[in-house]
Amino acid sequence: MRRVPVAAVDELPQGTMKMVQVDGVDILIVALDDRFYAMQGICSHEYFELDKGFLTGDSITCALHLSRFDLETGEALDPPAELPLARYRVDVEDGLLVVELPDGPIPVNE
Ligand code: FES
Repeated sequence: MRRVPVAAVDELPQGTMKMVQVDGVDILIVALDDRFYAMQGICSHEYFELDKGFLTGDSITCALHLSRFDLETGEALDPPAELPLARYRVDVEDGLLVVELPDGPIPVNE
């Protein structure tokens, strides 16, 4: 595993999200209720950036076909999406958000 700093904590006020790129892969960071989440940044249904979606309670809603995904598990809560979003561990270290990723290709469900 490798640990990759992707943003400063200050860049993500609570209730916001930010897309970052690692190895050319979009990763969405969400700050909500004093917690941070990291997941694949492109919807598992079709190619659409999830940072254009909406935070809806403890889920994120894709703006293209309105599937919701659980922030905690990545599970697709509504059709048409069926596959969960890949989730990645994210920690705060010295004011930075650090995502834990495998050494090889970054897993993405599509
Ligand atoms: S592209 Fe996200 S629900 Fe269809």
